[in-house]
Amino acid sequence: MLKDSDRIYQNLYGQQDWRLAGALARGDWNGTADIIARGRDALVEEMKASGMRGRGGAGFPTGMKWSFMPKQSDGRPSYVVINADESEPGTCKDRDIIRNEPHKLIEGALIASFAMGAHKAFIYIRGEYYNEAQRLQFAIDEAYQAGLLGKNAANSGWDFDLVLQRGAGAYICGEESAMLESLEGKKGMPRMKPPFPAAMGLYGCPTTVNNVETIAGVATIMRRGGAWFAGLGRPKNAGTKIFCISGHVNNPCNVEEELGVPLKDLIEKHAGGVRGGWDNLQAIIPGGASMPILNKAMADVQLMDFDSLAAVKSGMGSGAIIVMDKSVDVVKAIWRLSKFFKHESCGQCTPCREGTGWMMRQMDRIVQNKATLADIHLLEQVTTQVAGHTICAFGEASSWPIQGLMRAFRPTVEARATDYQPPQTVAQAAE
Ligand code: NAI
Ligand code: SF4
Repeated sequence: MLKDSDRIYQNLYGQQDWRLAGALARGDWNGTADIIARGRDALVEEMKASGMRGRGGAGFPTGMKWSFMPKQSDGRPSYVVINADESEPGTCKDRDIIRNEPHKLIEGALIASFAMGAHKAFIYIRGEYYNEAQRLQFAIDEAYQAGLLGKNAANSGWDFDLVLQRGAGAYICGEESAMLESLEGKKGMPRMKPPFPAAMGLYGCPTTVNNVETIAGVATIMRRGGAWFAGLGRPKNAGTKIFCISGHVNNPCNVEEELGVPLKDLIEKHAGGVRGGWDNLQAIIPGGASMPILNKAMADVQLMDFDSLAAVKSGMGSGAIIVMDKSVDVVKAIWRLSKFFKHESCGQCTPCREGTGWMMRQMDRIVQNKATLADIHLLEQVTTQVAGHTICAFGEASSWPIQGLMRAFRPTVEARATDYQPPQTVAQAAE
């Protein structure tokens, strides 16, 4: 188990004061000006040394992403955008950071923005997080009043403004380029990449989009050193991560743990175990709705980090672990996700717009025992025509749950077919 002294988040459960006084007592804003005095290059190198990979879901190396920002301005301002549009079903970690540790995010925003040459950053928060937006705005206001933001922020010599922007409840606005469109006041529809945001982002200017959890860890990494963070977790999967454990467990919770922790340990030691015991486990979605489902045999031995989950064709994604016991109809559960993805497609590219509806209707037929085996195999084929053929990763997100279901629960799915023949026993075959 992660030692308390290695936790980034000392107030994840909100037992202490979340306001500036409480944050200062926990060591936030301690020596911020000294960190900034190390200079941009040193901070980018420290982030590279930490091995931090983006905590929104894709796991792109953070230090490398920062290094894509221009060193010299060509006349365009640089921006940092912090993705707080946390919408992946099962994910509620950024919500608790904002509720209980908002100053970690604000201080991280200042340091990260300085490292990338940005005098302005935006936090884009999902519309449904109304109370969280109020609290975060309160924390931003008190940081301004204390001189930690604004001109000569935190006495660092760097002028820095932080703007909170509320979204309006569209899942796709969490995709970074759709978020930039939305911030510009347009419909939130993803852009083609490249160009990546560092070359042409917000208002056509160099921009880096980072997740809340990534930015909230920055100040601690800078204070304790990249080597400290890199020493936690596993090679190429460094540091700690907040996992969100929900579903059929006795104690659903968010918990910060080292990457590479066994999935079973997370559930048994932190979430009170599976309802009815581990043997009552049927399935786990390990990384939010878009990540392929695991059956119990897979879950028994699974480690929770980017590469271990990629090796079984799933993913750690946002770290949202959804536990299903044997009472669940897993086919129906994945049908429900396909309904979600059909609803949230922005509709601008044909394979996604048409494919998500088609996949949902086919899943609906399987759930209702109206599909043939050929229909099921056609569905599998169609998922491969959607994934990888769209403008943004939503194509994969909508296809992977069905592909995962087929990998982990093929006999269960095929047993729903109208023309399903149970496999013969040896004795039956001999008759
Ligand atoms: P991505 O892999 O396309 O990009 C990840 C980041 O790396 C982006 O910031 C991108 O600009 C940058 N990047 C990638 N290749 C680059 C290159 N060659 N040059 C410069 N920059 C590059 O993934 P994406 O679409 O940003 O995120 C998908 C993930 O988001 C999924 O894995 C899913 O888990 C997660 N997700 C999380 C949600 C949440 O609520 N936290 C909601 C929905 C999805
Ligand atoms: Fe929109 Fe779907 Fe295309 Fe993404 S893949 S741009 S959500 S239609």
